[in-house]
Amino acid sequence: MKRGAYQCLSLFVICLTVYPVTPLEEELSDTLFDNFLEPLKGLFNKNDDNSAYAKFSLRKPSDPDDDVCYIVRGKPETLNDCQFNTTAKTFLVIHGWTVSGMFESWVAMLVAALYERERDANVIVVDWLSTAQNHYVVAAQNTKAVGQDVAHFIDWIEENTNMPLKNLHLIGYSLGAHVAGFAGSHASNKIGRITGLDPAGPDFEGAHAHHRLSPDDAHFVDVLHTFTRGSLGLSIGIQQPVGHVDIYPNGGSFQPGCNLRGALEKIANFGILAMSNAIKCEHERSVHLFIDSLLNEQEVSKAYSCGSNDMFDRGVCLSCRKNRCNTVGYDVSKVRKARSVKMFTKTRASMPFRVYHYQLKIHFSCKVNQSEMEPSLTVSLYGTKGDAEDLQLNMKDKISVNKTHSFLLVTEKDIGDLLMMKFKWEESSSWSSSSLLQMVSSWWSGNSAATSGVEVHKIRVKVGETQKKMVFCVKTPQALNFAQEVTFVKCMDDWKSHSKRHNLKRH
Ligand SMILES: *[C@@H]1O[C@H](CO)[C@@H](O)[C@H](O)[C@H]1NC(C)=O
Ligand SMILES: *[C@@H]1O[C@H](CO)[C@@H](O)[C@H](O)[C@H]1NC(C)=O
Ligand SMILES: *[C@@H]1O[C@H](CO)[C@@H](O)[C@H](O)[C@H]1NC(C)=O
Repeated sequence: MKRGAYQCLSLFVICLTVYPVTPLEEELSDTLFDNFLEPLKGLFNKNDDNSAYAKFSLRKPSDPDDDVCYIVRGKPETLNDCQFNTTAKTFLVIHGWTVSGMFESWVAMLVAALYERERDANVIVVDWLSTAQNHYVVAAQNTKAVGQDVAHFIDWIEENTNMPLKNLHLIGYSLGAHVAGFAGSHASNKIGRITGLDPAGPDFEGAHAHHRLSPDDAHFVDVLHTFTRGSLGLSIGIQQPVGHVDIYPNGGSFQPGCNLRGALEKIANFGILAMSNAIKCEHERSVHLFIDSLLNEQEVSKAYSCGSNDMFDRGVCLSCRKNRCNTVGYDVSKVRKARSVKMFTKTRASMPFRVYHYQLKIHFSCKVNQSEMEPSLTVSLYGTKGDAEDLQLNMKDKISVNKTHSFLLVTEKDIGDLLMMKFKWEESSSWSSSSLLQMVSSWWSGNSAATSGVEVHKIRVKVGETQKKMVFCVKTPQALNFAQEVTFVKCMDDWKSHSKRHNLKRH
């Protein structure tokens, strides 16, 4: 999406950032948005001439940037002219809305990445720029007609080459994802796969499955959501799941490195440009995650099925049992369930995007009653391949004593097998004063001040990427008090019980 969208959307962004967004205001912005755009719908009439909406350019690995050969429906000789390989995989890359009327730079990057992975493939760029450069609402309305045009093209190729449709993979970005959906639903036979890269939200969110990308449109539909509602009160990407597998990297909004949060805060000073760059970065991140999955086959990201992003952020969803985890991007496993599966993952700010996910389960015990605490917890991990130091533990809740809390921790680096952890507990100032009160009261009630300390005896760790589980114990029991840095190593009794089991087996 480009400038024009931001200009019309930004009106609402400004409204919404001035006041905190409540669900009611969100509703209101929807209505405003519709009312604002609705009258424009009538201004544009659909093209009456029966001219084709889309052109099909078979790009070359040597020239991923240029359109040198078009395949034209009804002209079978163009298949030969363009050296269409009838036994190879075929990709249709479908762009989204544009204001400039030109291809965005990601198109050539995606074409090159597809050829990098699939040498013999036919990578066809679907050019519907002339329609896509209309006002957003008009472009959105025309996705169906463009999709039908693509469907006719697919039917024609199938008839002329006997190409099995399982070899056909449509990749659509933004509005292009819905074009792919319409193409799939209108093609005579079911196509193999559609990948939706942050499918467009406005005019499609909440629409019936027939009027947007849906799991019915191909044998397998996988979707990456990178800029969804929830972050702004309006959404450029669709929030609802629309495929068999729907992955929400970083919760589907606030992608690292895009600085949308910063742009929102600084919009008064820096204006719309910073804002639109951040929005473009978030929306387009879906494409770059997919490119990453093509280029960095050895460093694929894993995503995990979870009820909500909030639960994912507590680290409770790192299971791979019964298809609960999957690979992000090109190598996704084709899991087809009746209901679409929502999956989550964290990423780095740039390629390769992969991170390692850890769940830490910590029981904070304390002899005396403490009010809820909001400390800042810093963790360092030491492994067989390297270290990841001073990672901030993300607190979803306040800490209450005699309760087990679960945290999600990610590292950018592969540290190998985890050997040791160090924890630093820093009290926020608000807690310090209440802690002081606690000490005083425990003093008066006859306890020594030291007993007001919070203790952690064991930490249970689960690694998403390896599915390994471990238990860590305090290295030196004197250092039990969590006031300073405490070191944890793998528990000895854990080892003993393992070796016992081994011995039993041998006998
Ligand atoms: C067509 O693709 C197949 C793989 O699907 C490959 O083996 C073959 O060499 C390709 N033919 C040409 C002419 O490139
Ligand atoms: C801690 O406080 C709760 C209520 O706030 C009380 O029910 C409980 O008995 C207290 N426990 C101790 C050990 O003082
Ligand atoms: C926490 O549990 C320990 C051991 O079971 C107990 O001695 C202590 O009183 C509990 N603390 C609170 C605040 O309930």
